[in-house]
Amino acid sequence: MGNKKQYSAKRRPRVSDNPELQDYDYHLPVMLRECVDALMACGPDGTYIDGTLGGGGHTAEILSRLEEEGRLISYDADPDAILHCQERFKTIMEQYPKRLTLREANFVFMTQDEIPDESISGVLLDLGVSSRQLDKGQRGISYRFNTKLDMRFGPNGQTAEELLNSIEEGKLHHILRGFGEEPFARIIARRVVERRRAAPLQSTYDLRHLIEECVPPHIVSKSLARVFQAIRIAVNEELDILEKTIRGIIPKLVSGGRIVILSYHSLEDRIVKHVFKELASKNDDNIPSLRIFTPKPIEAQQEEISRNPRARTAKLRIAEKC
Ligand SMILES: C[S@@+](CC[C@H](N)C(=O)[O-])C[C@H]1O[C@@H](n2cnc3c(N)ncnc32)[C@H](O)[C@@H]1O
Repeated sequence: MGNKKQYSAKRRPRVSDNPELQDYDYHLPVMLRECVDALMACGPDGTYIDGTLGGGGHTAEILSRLEEEGRLISYDADPDAILHCQERFKTIMEQYPKRLTLREANFVFMTQDEIPDESISGVLLDLGVSSRQLDKGQRGISYRFNTKLDMRFGPNGQTAEELLNSIEEGKLHHILRGFGEEPFARIIARRVVERRRAAPLQSTYDLRHLIEECVPPHIVSKSLARVFQAIRIAVNEELDILEKTIRGIIPKLVSGGRIVILSYHSLEDRIVKHVFKELASKNDDNIPSLRIFTPKPIEAQQEEISRNPRARTAKLRIAEKC
């Protein structure tokens, strides 16, 4: 018990209060306090999951609030995020080996891992991509860098190159419309199929130039963003995985355990909203699984948006297991 003082959240500075503990070159975390305040309602000795480690911004804040029995398991499919955070949290992992576990895996595995039922106090998902992935041309996610057409968060599964060079025209049209709301979806899908008959698309610039040929110049940058987003969502099966994870995590949560989800586009937010709503309605036994705290999502304050433009589209939804 003597050790307890050393861990006391009151005595240790929170990352959000202390610029010296902040390390935001990799990614500037969005709605940091709002997310972690909501997540840690079960207290500093619970077991928490950060499903989207990235640069470790939210993980660092959670760690700074955990006490002696507190545990955190953080997932990322991107090996670069894991490497970065192994270095970032080296000291704490050496000092307190049980405190933080880093897992290079898709976060959907949190529903299948050997995590016992009713053992998790809160799960955070900060969806989408990190600034590092967008700004350094990693994983072929950004149209601003000429790299291999990959777009997978991690090393497993079908790449964007494989998808684009094999998919039927109609299915591609459906992806570009459905996941990108791209008005020129039909023309772009047709051009992809024509183009690959001559030579396969291999690089991000192959795709970029093709899009530039299909849409009027004044909307090119929007179309590039929409088409790259749509293909990334399809490659990573992002919407299916999100839904499966929300449903699958419920049995793992303790009663009162929280699900906290930050999403950045309407397709993700719609899924969170609908799945939460369904789980909050009464089941066959007349018992709801979730209690929703955010009938409307919480958005970032203007001050944060001016510091961090990526917070502009963020929507935070919070629910608690009944
Ligand atoms: C917005 S960033 C998270 C940033 C992080 N909260 C921070 O403060 O630095 C999203 C991260 O989640 C990862 N990611 C997205 N979907 C994933 C999934 N289904 N499984 C595992 N990692 C995923 C991405 O690789 C990326 O590193």
